Amino acid sequence: MTLRTLESLGSLEGKRVIVRCDLNVPLKDGVITDDGRVRASLPTLKTLIEAGARVVVCSHLGRPDGAPDPQYSLEPVAKRLSELLDQPVAFASDTVGESARGAVAELGDGEVVVIENLRFNAGETAKDDDARRAFAGELAALGDALVSDGFGVVHRKQASVYELAEILPSAAGLLIATELDVLDRLTENPERPYTVVLGGSKVSDKLGVISHLLPRVDRILVGGGMLFTFLAAQGHAVASSLLEKDQLDTVRGYLTEAAERGVEIVLPTDVVVAESFSADAAHEIVAADAIEQSSFGASGIGLDIGPDTAAAFADAIRSSKTVFWNGPMGVFEFPAFAAGTKAVAQALTEVDGLGVVGGGDSAAAVRQLGFTDDQFGHISTGGGASLEFLEGKKLPGLEVLGWA
Ligand code: 3PG
Repeated sequence: MTLRTLESLGSLEGKRVIVRCDLNVPLKDGVITDDGRVRASLPTLKTLIEAGARVVVCSHLGRPDGAPDPQYSLEPVAKRLSELLDQPVAFASDTVGESARGAVAELGDGEVVVIENLRFNAGETAKDDDARRAFAGELAALGDALVSDGFGVVHRKQASVYELAEILPSAAGLLIATELDVLDRLTENPERPYTVVLGGSKVSDKLGVISHLLPRVDRILVGGGMLFTFLAAQGHAVASSLLEKDQLDTVRGYLTEAAERGVEIVLPTDVVVAESFSADAAHEIVAADAIEQSSFGASGIGLDIGPDTAAAFADAIRSSKTVFWNGPMGVFEFPAFAAGTKAVAQALTEVDGLGVVGGGDSAAAVRQLGFTDDQFGHISTGGGASLEFLEGKKLPGLEVLGWA
C-alpha cells in the first residue's frame, strides 16, 4: 500500500484541517536557534492555505511531563511561523481547551492557528491505548481532517500521530512524502559505492541501524563518542573517553561480520584528546591506538576525530555515490572540537550523487557550522525516525497513513 496523499482528502476549502507537524525546534532562552523544522513544514501549510483550509497546526516541543511547562511553549514557534508565512498566525494557550476551541472557531478560510504543545497533555504520550484514544478524540473535535506531516515523530505511537489518524480522514503531508522519497532512494537499489557515516555519543542508539545496514552498504565510517567503544573492542585503551562496556561484545560481532561480508568499517586512526570536557580544555592529537599516551594520561577524553581521520573520511565520502550521515563526529558545539564534523559536512556537500544529512541534531550541527540546506542533497527532519526507517522497522505514524 502507498501513502494516502493530500489529494485523497478532496476539496479542503472551508474545512478545518489539523496539521500534525514536528516543530520540535531547539530553543535557547525562548529564542529558536534552528528553525529548520518550521521551514520544512511550510510547503504543506502553504498548500492548505491556498486551498482555503482553516489550518490548525499542532506539534510537540521537548519532553514535558504531560502537563503545561512554560519553557516548552510553542508560542515562539507560532511567531516564527507567522514571519515565514508572512501572514498572522493565532496562538491558543491550551491544546484542546477553551482557548484552542475558541481560536479554531474564529478561523476564516486560509487562516492559521497554532495550538499549544501536545505533550502538555498526558494522553498524548500515554502508554495506555484508551488514554491515547481519549485524547485523540478531544483533538479530533478541532478538525474535519488530519494532515500528518511531522516526519520526525512518525516512529512514535502517540495520540496525534496514530490514533488521531484513525479517527479523522487523514493523509500524509508534503514533507513526509519528500522524506520517504529520499529514504526510499537509500534503501531501494542505492547507487554505489554507498557509505554510511555514524557519529553521536552512543553505540547503543545505533545498534539496530548498524546491523540492518551491514549487508546493504559498502562502508560504515565511525566517529563521535561511539568510536571509543569500537576502539576498545579492538583492544585499545581509551583513557576517560566515552565507553559503553556492555556493547563491546556486540561491536566485536559487527567487526567480524563486516570482515566476512567485505564491508569496510572505517575507524579513526587519530583522535583529538582533551584534558577535560570543556570548550577551552587543553588538547592534542594522538594516534587512535595510543590515547592513553597523551599528556593527560588516563584522564584524557577524546572529543573529536583527528585531522588524518577527517581527511580519510572526507575522501571516502567524496568518492561515494550515496551517503547517509547521522551524528556529529565530535563535540562540535565547542569550536576546538568541531573540525571533524565540519570536514564530514564539507565532503557531503561535494558528493556527486545523493548526500543525506539524517536527523534534527545533525541538521542543527551543519547549520551551526555555517552550511546552508541547499548545499546538501537532502537534510532529513527526523533523526530517530530516519534511523528506524533505515533499520527496516515498521513506523506507526506511516502505517496508519497506508504505508506498508
Ligand atoms: C525528534 O526530535 O527526534 C522528534 O521531534 C521526536 O522527539 P522525541 O524523541 O521527543 O519523541
